[in-house]
Amino acid sequence: MKVLSQRSQNAVAEFAPIADFFLRSTYGEARNAAGACDFTFGNPHEMPLAGLVKTLAQNVHPQNPEWFAYKTSEPESRTFIADALSRELGLDFEPEDIAMTQGAFAAIALAFRLVLDAGDEVVIPVPGWFCYASMLRAADLVPVKVGLSEPDFDLDLEAIEAAITPRTRMVVVNSPHNPTGRVYSREQLQALTDLLNSASNRIDARIWLLSDEPYRRIRFTSAPFVSPAALYPWTLIDYSYGKVLLAPGQRLGYLAISPLLPNDQRDELRGATFSVQMSMGWTFPDALMQYSVASLESVSIDLDALAEKRDRMLHSLEQWGYRMVPPEGTFYLWGEAPKGDALRFAETLAARSVFVMPGTLFERKRHFRISLTATAEMIERALPIFRDAAK
Ligand SMILES: Cc1ncc(COP(=O)(O)O)c(C=O)c1O
Repeated sequence: MKVLSQRSQNAVAEFAPIADFFLRSTYGEARNAAGACDFTFGNPHEMPLAGLVKTLAQNVHPQNPEWFAYKTSEPESRTFIADALSRELGLDFEPEDIAMTQGAFAAIALAFRLVLDAGDEVVIPVPGWFCYASMLRAADLVPVKVGLSEPDFDLDLEAIEAAITPRTRMVVVNSPHNPTGRVYSREQLQALTDLLNSASNRIDARIWLLSDEPYRRIRFTSAPFVSPAALYPWTLIDYSYGKVLLAPGQRLGYLAISPLLPNDQRDELRGATFSVQMSMGWTFPDALMQYSVASLESVSIDLDALAEKRDRMLHSLEQWGYRMVPPEGTFYLWGEAPKGDALRFAETLAARSVFVMPGTLFERKRHFRISLTATAEMIERALPIFRDAAK
C-alpha cells in the first residue's frame, strides 16, 4: 500500500542528501563528541546573546489575561517592522504589507502559497539553500535549478533567461547568498528585473521575485544593501531574525510586500495573508517573540568578531592553496576542496573531528561550505587539520 503522498515522496527525495548527512554520515554519528569542531549548519556554539535573553525574560511575565492568547500578525509588530524596514530599504512599507511568520521558512512557504499554483515552475539558484527544492516539491511546485556563474557565483542572467518557460511564475534571489556569501549589486539586480519584465511580457504571465534576505544585516561591506523590492514591484521579501540573533530555534520572521506593487494587487495580497497563514496551519510567530520585536531590533551577533573569524580562516586557507570565494556577507565561507573532491575532503577532515559541509549538499561536487558560527577556539584547533588536508 502506498503510504506517502506523491508530493511527500518528491520532497523526501529532494532532501535525501541532507538527511543522509545529518543522520547517517560520520558527522551524523560524531558531531556531539567531545572536541568536535563543527563548521556545518549555522547553529550557535556559544551562549545566546545577552540582549536576547534579557528581552525574553522580561516578556515572559504576563501583563494581562490574553498574554498567551492566539497571536497572528500583531499590529504592534507589523507597525514596528514597517517603519524599521522603510528606513532600512528606503521604501514606504505600511503595517499591512508585513505578515509575521515563524522565521524565513514560513515566510517562504507563505510566498509560494500566496501566488503560485500546482505545477508552476520556480527558478532557484544552485548552489543555494538546500530547502527550496524540497519545499517546492512538498507544495506540488516545480523547482528549476539554475547555476550561478563560476568562479564568482554572480547571477547568470543568460542561464535564468534560458530556464524561463510559459510555466515560470517565480524566481528566487538570495542575497547575501548562502553558501557563497555574495551580495548582489544594484546593477546585477536591475539587469535581472529588466529580464523578468520582458520575460513576463513574453509569456504573458507575471513572474514574481522572492527576495530571500535572512542574512541582510550580516554584511562585511559598507555598501548599502539593495533589495530587489526597490527595483521590481512584484517582489516579496522574506526575512528571519534567526541569523542576526543566532537563535534559529526562536522562530521570528516576516514576509513583506513591495510597496511598489500596483495598489489593487497589493490590496489583494494584504487581504489574503491572514486567512492563508491560518489555512497553512498557523504560521505566525509565538506570543513571546511578537512582544520582543522592538527590543530585538538593536540586538545582533558581533559582526566585528565574525569578520575576524572570516579573515583568519580565509587568509589561512588561501595561504595553503585553497581557492576561496571571499564572502561579502552571511556567516559562511565557500571554496574549492583540495584536489576537487568535496566528499573525500569532508571525510578526511571528519576523521579528525572537523566537520564541514561537502558541496554535494549544494549540488556542487568540488566545493565545501564552512559555517563561521564555530567558535574562535574551534577555528584555531581545526586550522592545522585544514593545512594537512591541503597537502
Ligand atoms: C538562504 C536561507 N533562507 C532561509 C533560511 C531559513 O531561515 P530560518 O530557519 O531562520 O527561517 C535559511 C536558513 O538557513 C537560509 O540559509
